[in-house]
Amino acid sequence: MKSTVRNFISAGLLCGAAMLMTTGAWAADAAAGKTVYLAKCKTCHGADGTPSPAMAKAMGIKPLNDTATQAKSDDVLKAVVTKGEGKMKPVAGIAGADLDNVVAAVRGMK
Ligand code: HEC
Repeated sequence: MKSTVRNFISAGLLCGAAMLMTTGAWAADAAAGKTVYLAKCKTCHGADGTPSPAMAKAMGIKPLNDTATQAKSDDVLKAVVTKGEGKMKPVAGIAGADLDNVVAAVRGMK
């Protein structure tokens, strides 16, 4: 009985370590984030983070490589995506790893 409990605990630890490692890999995956970006953000922000002149004018969008934008923390940028800001509505269907990745992609636009 005791060894069953011990086995169960060590299996749990291994599992936790594997999950941590996977999350670490997600956090830096700007390439995966770019795929999400192209699907969900490109229409307004342009393929490389620079909005088309018409979009920039109509909605007041700055390029994502703007120093003021890049100076904001990851958490703030994630909140812009999930909660919206000004004329940007919350973007549906982005959470967890996708959210980390899309922010990594935005960071890659400086
Ligand atoms: C429907 C058009 C639209 C879509 C789609 C959109 N955005 Fe935006 N975004 C905007 C507008 C408009 C603003 C400017 C908001 C304002 O009024 O301050 C903005 C602002 C931002 C900012 C904030 C800049 C700052 O300095 O505060 C970030 C970051 C951003 N968008 C990222 C994204 C990401 C990432 C996605 C995709 C997941 C996305 N946006 C999808 C329209 C859009």
